[in-house]
Amino acid sequence: MSFKQEARKFYPKWPIYDEKEINALTEVIKSGEWWCGAPGAHQGNNVWAFQEEFAQLQGSEYCVAVCNGTVAIEAALMALDVGLGDEVIVSDYTFVASASAVIATNAVPIFCDIDPNTLVMDVNKVEELITERTKAIIPVHLGGNPVNMGHLMELAVNYDLKVVEDCAHAHGSEFKGKKVGNWGDAGTFSFQASKVITSGEGGAIICNNSELADNIYSYIDCGRKKNEYFYKHFSYGTNYRMTEYQAAILRAQLKKFPGQHKLRNDNAQYLMKKLNEIDGIKTMIPTTGTTTLGWYVFPILFETKKFGGLTKSKFYKKLNKSGIPTDDCYPPLHSLDCFKYNNLKKGIDYSYANWGGEKSNNVHFPIVSDVYSRSLEFPQEILLASRDKLNDVIEFIKSLKSTTLSQD
Ligand SMILES: Cc1ncc(COP(=O)(O)O)c(C=O)c1O
Repeated sequence: MSFKQEARKFYPKWPIYDEKEINALTEVIKSGEWWCGAPGAHQGNNVWAFQEEFAQLQGSEYCVAVCNGTVAIEAALMALDVGLGDEVIVSDYTFVASASAVIATNAVPIFCDIDPNTLVMDVNKVEELITERTKAIIPVHLGGNPVNMGHLMELAVNYDLKVVEDCAHAHGSEFKGKKVGNWGDAGTFSFQASKVITSGEGGAIICNNSELADNIYSYIDCGRKKNEYFYKHFSYGTNYRMTEYQAAILRAQLKKFPGQHKLRNDNAQYLMKKLNEIDGIKTMIPTTGTTTLGWYVFPILFETKKFGGLTKSKFYKKLNKSGIPTDDCYPPLHSLDCFKYNNLKKGIDYSYANWGGEKSNNVHFPIVSDVYSRSLEFPQEILLASRDKLNDVIEFIKSLKSTTLSQD
């Protein structure tokens, strides 16, 4: 067993499930209705019901469920007519999917540096990245922390750009009283295994425009249109439908969400207060205007010189070895091999991109490069733990400062 697995056994195990998930899944199996069918010819009911329930949770009019959060972004972009020749501005500090979904549409992602405190896209840097080819922006609400959507939407309106909010981490987050995913044209979610509502894999797109919702649906269901003959395919589409198994589990998970959301948020507030009192530790700071932060993971930054020169990998190892589950944050997108060495799609001109070869040098993305070199994150197991366990984390980090550090 690695240190990491060993450490996790002292904290609540994620996913959290009980008889509700087991019974829901068993019912689907016994029903023999293992897929959702089409809008005019329902088979199982779980996908259709989940779409309504999730739309209600996020305060949106429409929701289309899909098989994962990566294709959710792709489907939203495709339905918004993003494609060949277009550029899409994406935060540099995110999981690869925020940008690989852009590649899937044949458009080119352009990476935007982040704010050093909130760790999300620095909206003040977006304007300088806009060109005549820019078609859309993907703000990523990293760790549940909302991007400043007020400012971003002003830019989008001024430059006539589409906005797809990547809310894979931000179930329940709210900026200026409006849930994320409802600021832009569409918001996309992931229900992958580590996410706060999960079915192992899964995704959804929310929006408030019925025509857009229909186009998204058509794309993820083979180019079909609602209430039309099953073998009519009106436009290019593919099969990204969610299964009944996923939806049944998600409906049970949805019921657990409010209580867990409160606990994660209470614990995050406590950790924020206590950890920021330690000289040399800084936590992710909620964006000004955040009314609810749906914490998913909890990123921290440390100053090496305040910790006796401790490197990031040693810091990580020490936390894990002491029983505290800790993960690495995302390597910035510009530094990933697929972008640096252009291992992407054939026949697409990526020469306009602000990454690739020398352009992927960290000097061009100074904030995110610095942040990544000294940041780690606590997974939600910690945010769901007891106060005693949180105090263990705080005390252990303090002890790392006061002991003479061996670098082992
Ligand atoms: C920010 C972000 N966007 C998109 C995704 C893609 O979601 P999925 O893994 O469900 O495809 C993830 C998944 O981890 C993510 O973290």
